Amino acid sequence: MSHSSHSVKRSHVHATHGTAAEKGIHVAIIMDGNGRWATARGRPRTAGHIAGARVVRKIVEAAPDCGIGMLTLYAFSADNWARPSREVALLMRLFRRYLVAETDRCVTNDVRMRIIGRRDRIPGELLRAIQAAEEATKYGKKLDLRIAVDYSARDAVTRAVKKLRGHESVTREDVARAMCDVDHWTGDPRDVDLLIRTGGEQRLSDFLLWECAYAELYFTDRRWPDFSPADLEQAVHQFHSRERRFGAVPEAAAG
Ligand code: IPE
Ligand code: IPE
Ligand code: MG
Repeated sequence: MSHSSHSVKRSHVHATHGTAAEKGIHVAIIMDGNGRWATARGRPRTAGHIAGARVVRKIVEAAPDCGIGMLTLYAFSADNWARPSREVALLMRLFRRYLVAETDRCVTNDVRMRIIGRRDRIPGELLRAIQAAEEATKYGKKLDLRIAVDYSARDAVTRAVKKLRGHESVTREDVARAMCDVDHWTGDPRDVDLLIRTGGEQRLSDFLLWECAYAELYFTDRRWPDFSPADLEQAVHQFHSRERRFGAVPEAAAG
């Protein structure tokens, strides 16, 4: 499917440079359903996370061909610390393994990888892997891959507000930038164009609340370990068939 012919309508906060990554749409994915996928197969929840990690690689590789310039993946929420410590420990090990294994592939595929979220509660070994992966991939231009770990949108808003306290006038841009800063995203702020949630639930679970102000929402029952590049393509295809209005009236009706 060709995407170059699609005109991508950007909302208020948009990128200012013209790299390939920034010309593509911003897709965010809540990768949900790992536990249920495993339970349905009589296996421990952790087996679902291991299967899910393999899917991440495939989706990242497929993203540029789907016209995606920025991909933000929800891997671990600030509320996920409440899970059994065994599950949390396995997830942290999986993130580290993913970063170590995928860094070279990202460099080869021209992908810039960044982890967004808090960093003060991340285990030291993982933190070092994050820093190494970000440093090695920082020149990637084809795709901005952002993985949200220990992420909470409401936390981000709260920390941004603290950062801006005392400023005389505060614009939306200032808030958007402050939110990037507190979550260690060094690029420009970008709204989400398309938000996908796998696993059947239809909620945001504290993900990118600010950036999703005008996002198109796409929910699928497919559990994350079963999500395929073809499913991603289908979601993006549907996105392009939707009419985004941003509060205005459709062109045809404007008179
Ligand atoms: C998403 O799958 C992965 C993480 C939240 C880390 P879940 O583990 O939430 O899977 P379900 O929702 O229990 O099936
Ligand atoms: C959201 O999924 C977080 C991730 C996918 C990483 P959850 O499974 O934690 O969300 P809830 O608890 O169903 O809302
Ligand atoms: Mg879940």
